[in-house]
Amino acid sequence: MKKEVEKQNKFLSLSKNLLKFKFGEISPKAYVHTFGCQGNVSDGERMKGLLSDMGYVFVDDEKEADLILLNTCAIREHAEDRVFGNIGRLKILKKNNPDLIICVCGCMVQQKHIEEKIRKSYPYVTVVFGTHVIHKLPEFIYRALNTGKRVYDTDNTNLEIAEGNNVWRDGSIRAWLPIMYGCNNFCSYCVVPYVRGRERSRKSEEIIKEAKHLVSLGFKDITLLGQNVNSYGKGLEEDINFAKLLRMINDIDGDFTIRFMTSHPKDCTRELLDAMAECEKVAKHLHLPVQSGNDRVLKEMNRHYDREKYLSLIEYARKVMPDLSITSDIIVGFPGETYEEFCDTLSLVEKVRYTSLYTFIYSARKNTKAAEMPDPVTREEKGKWFDELLKLQERIAAERTAKMNGKVYKVLAEEKSKTDGWLSGRTSGNVIIEFPADENVIGSFCEVLVTEPLNWIVKGELVKTV
Ligand code: 5AD
Ligand code: SF4
Repeated sequence: MKKEVEKQNKFLSLSKNLLKFKFGEISPKAYVHTFGCQGNVSDGERMKGLLSDMGYVFVDDEKEADLILLNTCAIREHAEDRVFGNIGRLKILKKNNPDLIICVCGCMVQQKHIEEKIRKSYPYVTVVFGTHVIHKLPEFIYRALNTGKRVYDTDNTNLEIAEGNNVWRDGSIRAWLPIMYGCNNFCSYCVVPYVRGRERSRKSEEIIKEAKHLVSLGFKDITLLGQNVNSYGKGLEEDINFAKLLRMINDIDGDFTIRFMTSHPKDCTRELLDAMAECEKVAKHLHLPVQSGNDRVLKEMNRHYDREKYLSLIEYARKVMPDLSITSDIIVGFPGETYEEFCDTLSLVEKVRYTSLYTFIYSARKNTKAAEMPDPVTREEKGKWFDELLKLQERIAAERTAKMNGKVYKVLAEEKSKTDGWLSGRTSGNVIIEFPADENVIGSFCEVLVTEPLNWIVKGELVKTV
């Protein structure tokens, strides 16, 4: 991989020179749009780092761009439809500017049928590449600039991790830090293991180096990313697991918060929960996707835990972290799920009392096991169940935020809120809190008194910066 990185650095200089030759003193402009999860956002930042090193500057309007990069998501059909809508719109831009380079990358194109569809139906897309080869972007751009021909690389055999490139950071307070890539779990509904390949962890040394760098740049909130961070370290030569990694990052000097996602309940250990409890920099927030509260459905989903095991984890987590905020992902209308089984999800939600939920109606994904299962319940019916779940969670969230009233929370002020003169931040438990304060407080930790709890967010008053 080291050789490959060196090769790409050569392509990077070549592209830079070629762009200088074509554009002269004016910097070429790139428009990068990332769809989907934080993992994709992080990939997008890594690609922006490479583009920036080639000499590109970033624009928010695709019409101004010399290069457009769509970093796609395949998790549900709706996500894919949005991407195709976007690609369709670009045809006219390419017609007006034949030198425009259009790149489509990410999870979606890692599927054969999508790659073929783009090849056949969208001839104006210049570069198509998958999730395993994003480090080869300099080579792709060079080839596209140099030959004008289409470049395709959706290789899925490369499992090595390219290190050492500059990363572009979209913010200056919160940062994403990938600790591993891929997924080995093959939940029966999920396309991720097919498009992102097998699990592979970054060496702890690389992660610590990046975390220290982020802290030295002034970042105050670092989220460690992986499809299943709890299996971090498997396959590495060093003796490490996620709990140990958390402790190592916690030991880095500085005032910052550590978050992580996503944890798979089957690999969530007491060792990890103890590490969370003991590490003062780790946010007391656990995102632990349950997907369903019914044992038969969980088995069909291939989740490898049951309701009881999940609830006992939650019980232990709350024992060691009484203020812990827990969030989850839930799929409504998995193939064959009955209303009675869905009611088990409702009762689990009632029992756990989540801070918030990410809820999804099941979407069939090509080549997954669940896509072959009979799915007799109509979309309309699933929509009703979905609304029932939302209503329940709305009540729980409102009850939880009501309990925050009159209490003081440590909050990181992150940005201006929509209301003039107000800022928005989040508590350790990931609840959004808005309060009137001067802009120069952004980036500081503050104590905020909650004065008005709303359904999902709370409003408050600044007590002091800390
Ligand atoms: N349909 C609906 N939701 C899905 N998710 C993953 N695959 C699907 C699918 N086919 C949801 C899961 C996962 C989250 C990231 O997306 O809840 O945890
Ligand atoms: Fe998909 Fe399951 Fe892997 Fe999460 S753990 S990415 S839901 S297969």
